[in-house]
Amino acid sequence: MEKWIDESLDAFVGKYRRTLEHVRGMICYTTGPDGRFDDRSGDDQIGWWTNGFWTGLLWQLWAASGDEAFHEEAIALEERFDRIFLDASALDHDNGFRWLPNAVVHYRQDGDKAALNRGILAAGQLAGRFNPTGGFIRAWNPWPGMTMEGFPDDKHIGWAIIDCMMNLPLLYWASGVTGDPRFKDIAMRHADKALASFIRPDGSAVHICVFDPSTGDLVKTLGGQGYAEGSSWTRGQGWALYGFTLSYLHTKEERYLEAARKVASYVLSQIPGSGLIPIDFRQPPEPAWEDSSASTIIACGLIELSKLVSGKESDDYMAAALKLLKTLHEERNDYTDAQDIIVTRSSEAYHRPAHETAIIYADYYYLEALLKLKDKALWVW
Ligand code: GLY
Repeated sequence: MEKWIDESLDAFVGKYRRTLEHVRGMICYTTGPDGRFDDRSGDDQIGWWTNGFWTGLLWQLWAASGDEAFHEEAIALEERFDRIFLDASALDHDNGFRWLPNAVVHYRQDGDKAALNRGILAAGQLAGRFNPTGGFIRAWNPWPGMTMEGFPDDKHIGWAIIDCMMNLPLLYWASGVTGDPRFKDIAMRHADKALASFIRPDGSAVHICVFDPSTGDLVKTLGGQGYAEGSSWTRGQGWALYGFTLSYLHTKEERYLEAARKVASYVLSQIPGSGLIPIDFRQPPEPAWEDSSASTIIACGLIELSKLVSGKESDDYMAAALKLLKTLHEERNDYTDAQDIIVTRSSEAYHRPAHETAIIYADYYYLEALLKLKDKALWVW
């Protein structure tokens, strides 16, 4: 095992031990101009889709260190999320992101009954978003009076996004704990639709597919958070790579493994020599905006996939994951207390004003990836 991995883990956990002292009770997403974390635990922000990554980070920090302070903090925050169950505009396709690295990991670790209840409620609501005629789980929620940035008149009833592949494990888990096959069936129908509609012949993945909600016919594809229609949003490539790998792990259906391999082969062909990942593999050379969060998600997917294949293919996936992570460790991570985030330079979307900022899921997936390399990661997905 390479020495830098242990050094990085020590520095990562050490910094979060210090950070925890000033963020107790908070749910963090990004940082302000002073470099300090924000707090999304209030009633008006608790539904934010990334909030589960904060509790997930605390759970993985506990796995990394055995420090009960992280364990206790994750559990203390879990109840805050219950308010989302009363807010139909907040509940959406991202229930997996909200509750898998949160109540579900709590149930898996401690057998907690309230946590089990939360996970099943979240899975039921996610299953309810499935369009049975169209064969997809609907993304997002523009309710009357709400508009979606850039798409003011479209209610998004037929929209599905590649990110949703990462939410399917909530449904696989729910079938496992309840014995009810419907959750898994819905997950597989969505995965099959995604395989047919989102994965291009070259192995790249579309961000948004717009389906006719009455028939399931593909109407158009959109560039979404990437550069443009027909482009290749890097975080979306990561969601596809890791997401299909997870669907294979939960179902053992070869077609999902083949999909993951196809995306991985494409991603490997696109990783720049610098090891730093842009927002979109097809963005113009300038500005050379980066998205470190994409690196961390791609690395997690490649590490899991490397265990499912053999020989040179497996070695190539692992080598690429190590390169991405080591590059972040050496060139992008900030282990000092000058700012709260560790993995710097993540970008929400190509066309949003903020680029190369702090985003909590980059820290989450970086830690998950390092712990996978040490065989110490909690199983979240
Ligand atoms: N929409 C989820 C993401 O930004 O990756």
